Amino acid sequence: MKLIALTGSMRRGNSEISARYIANKLNADLEILRIANMNIKPCKACYACIFGEKCKIDDDVYFILEEIKKGDVILISSPVYWLDSPGKIKAFIDRCFMAIPYFEDFKEKKGAIVYFYGFEELRGWASTTYNLMLRCIGIEPLIIMPIHSPLPGEVLEKKSNLDIVAEVLKNGKRVVLDGQCPICLSETFKFKNGFECSLCGSKFNDRFEVIEKSERFSLDWMINHYDELRKFKDVYIEKRSYLKDLIDKYIKK
Ligand SMILES: Cc1cc2nc3c(=O)[nH]c(=O)nc-3n(C[C@H](O)[C@H](O)[C@H](O)COP(=O)(O)O)c2cc1C
Repeated sequence: MKLIALTGSMRRGNSEISARYIANKLNADLEILRIANMNIKPCKACYACIFGEKCKIDDDVYFILEEIKKGDVILISSPVYWLDSPGKIKAFIDRCFMAIPYFEDFKEKKGAIVYFYGFEELRGWASTTYNLMLRCIGIEPLIIMPIHSPLPGEVLEKKSNLDIVAEVLKNGKRVVLDGQCPICLSETFKFKNGFECSLCGSKFNDRFEVIEKSERFSLDWMINHYDELRKFKDVYIEKRSYLKDLIDKYIKK
């Protein structure tokens, strides 16, 4: 079994230790992709890749996707930085329209997330970013495990949490932890006539029971969403000259 671990941490701290611990538990070969050290340029929003063209930006994104292809198990093991993921992780997510041709390959892989934070009240929304990261490459997470571990190595004081992640990756049975959306495992919700999952859009009553299930960012939803995006090309061609006139009218050169 091959385990590919993706991390946004630069140091050999909790993220790397956890990846090694879980790989040992699974008796898996481990490859760590340190996203923080990679060359990831911003998306140019040309949309060529959603029409099947190769991305013309020359950086490490294809390398990362090709390495993920070699894994049976994909683990995101990464910290909270300023309530979210480190910036390079978001830079990678922004480029993930490029992952469309990999969906067929990736959908069979098992995915899990383990993330580390220093302060309970500062966990923020990193979990949702990591959840999205896995879904952007066509993998739905089996478990998302938050672990309070400010100092490098402290995660091993809570290694039973890593054992749970390893077990889930072994048996492939999804686990929903306390406070997570039962549909998509998100940990962030907004209030809009009741609670709504900010990722999948499912709605809940005040006892946290699902009253309306939604599947935003499931693999089927993603595929359908890209079909919707492709239709924008014709809409843009139709509206282009009107939009140009509008810009010329209101924006001075
Ligand atoms: C730049 C930076 C920002 C951080 N921001 C947060 C934060 O917003 N919330 C939090 O709980 N911990 C925060 N932390 C603490 C880390 O999440 C924590 O130390 C984690 O264990 C680091 O993982 P690592 O050992 O794999 O690098 C931050 C750490 C750094 C270096």
